[in-house]
Amino acid sequence: DAEALQAQFDDVIARNERIEPRDWMPDGYRATLVRQIAQHAHSEIIGMQPEGNWITRAPSLRRKAILLAKVQDEAGHGLYLYSATETLGTSRDELTEKLLSGAQKYSSIFNYPTLSYADVGTIGWLVDGAAICNQVPLCRTSYGPYGRAMIRICKEESFHQRQGYELLMTMMQGTDAQREMVQESVDRFWWPALMMFGPPDADSPNTARSMAWGIKRNTNDDLRQRFVDMTVPQAQVLGVTLPDPQLRWNEERGAHDFGEPDWEEFMRVVKGNGPCNAQRVAHRRRAWEDGAWVREAATAYAARSAVLGAS
Ligand code: ACO
Repeated sequence: DAEALQAQFDDVIARNERIEPRDWMPDGYRATLVRQIAQHAHSEIIGMQPEGNWITRAPSLRRKAILLAKVQDEAGHGLYLYSATETLGTSRDELTEKLLSGAQKYSSIFNYPTLSYADVGTIGWLVDGAAICNQVPLCRTSYGPYGRAMIRICKEESFHQRQGYELLMTMMQGTDAQREMVQESVDRFWWPALMMFGPPDADSPNTARSMAWGIKRNTNDDLRQRFVDMTVPQAQVLGVTLPDPQLRWNEERGAHDFGEPDWEEFMRVVKGNGPCNAQRVAHRRRAWEDGAWVREAATAYAARSAVLGAS
C-alpha cells in the first residue's frame, strides 16, 4: 500500500542508496527531478551557442579543434540528461516545447554575450569551473540515471575547465593587449558565474526539500563559497584581478569573504530579460523547426521498418 511504498522510498533515501526508474517515488520527487534535470539539459544545449559563435573565428587550427570538441561534448551532455529525464516518463519533444515556450528554464549564464576570444577561455575557467563545483556532488544524487550521467559529464567538464585556463595562461604570456582582453573578460563573467549557483539560501524555495530527498547534496551558498575559495588562488597564478573590492581571506572562517552579486540583475535574466535571452531562444527555435523534417522522416522510417520487420 501507499504507506509501505513511502516507507521503502524513505528508507532508500536514508541509507543514501539510489532510486531507480522502476521504483515507486513520490510525485513531488519525480517533478523536482524533471525540473532540475531538464533545466540542466537545456543549459547544456543553449550553452553551445555563446561558444559556438567563435568556432569559425578561432585563432588557430589547434584552438578550433579544441573548441569544436568542447561544444560537441556539450551536445552530448544535453543528450544524456534528456535521456535521464525520459526515464521519469517525459519525452524530449515535450521538454523542448517547454524550453521554447519559456515554461522551463536554463542557466542564466548563457544569456551573456561572448565578445572576444578571451571569453572562450573565461567560460572554460569560470563557467565550467562553477559547473564542476555544482556537479561533482550531483554524482552522488539519489536518482540513479542522473548520478551516472553526472560522472561522465564531470570528467569532460574537467577537460573543459583546463582548456580554458590554458588558453588564458597563453594569452597572459602574450602582449599587453591580450592581457587586457583577459582582464576585461574576467570582469564581465565573474559576477554572472557566481549567480550560476542560484539565489541565496534564504531565497531558494527548492533547496531544503531537494536536500531532504538527496537530489541536491549542498546548498547554493555552500557551493558558491567553495567556488570562490577554489578560484582565488587560480586567479593569482594567472595574474588577473577578480572584480570584487570586498574579496579577502577571512582567517577566522578559513574562507574568503566576498561581495553580494546583483540579485536584481539575476532575477531579470532568469525572467527572460537578460542581454541575449531572446536571441538564444530564437536560435534554438529555428534549429528545432528546421529539423522537423528529420524527425518526421525518422519516425516514418521507424514505423515502416517495424511493419516490414513484423511481416
Ligand atoms: N539560472 C536560471 N535559473 C536559476 C538559476 C540560474 N543560475 N539558479 C536558480 N534558478 C531558478 C531555479 O530553477 C528555480 O526556478 P524553478 O523553480 O522555476 O525551477 C528558482 O531559480 C529558485 O532557485 P532554487 O530554489 O535555488 O532552485 P534549485 O534548488 O533547483 O537550485 C540549481 C538551482 C543550483 C541551479 C540546481 O537546479 C542545480 O544544481 N541544477 C543542476 C546544475 C545545472 O543546472 N547546471 C546548469 C548550468 S552549468 C552548465 O550546464 C555548464
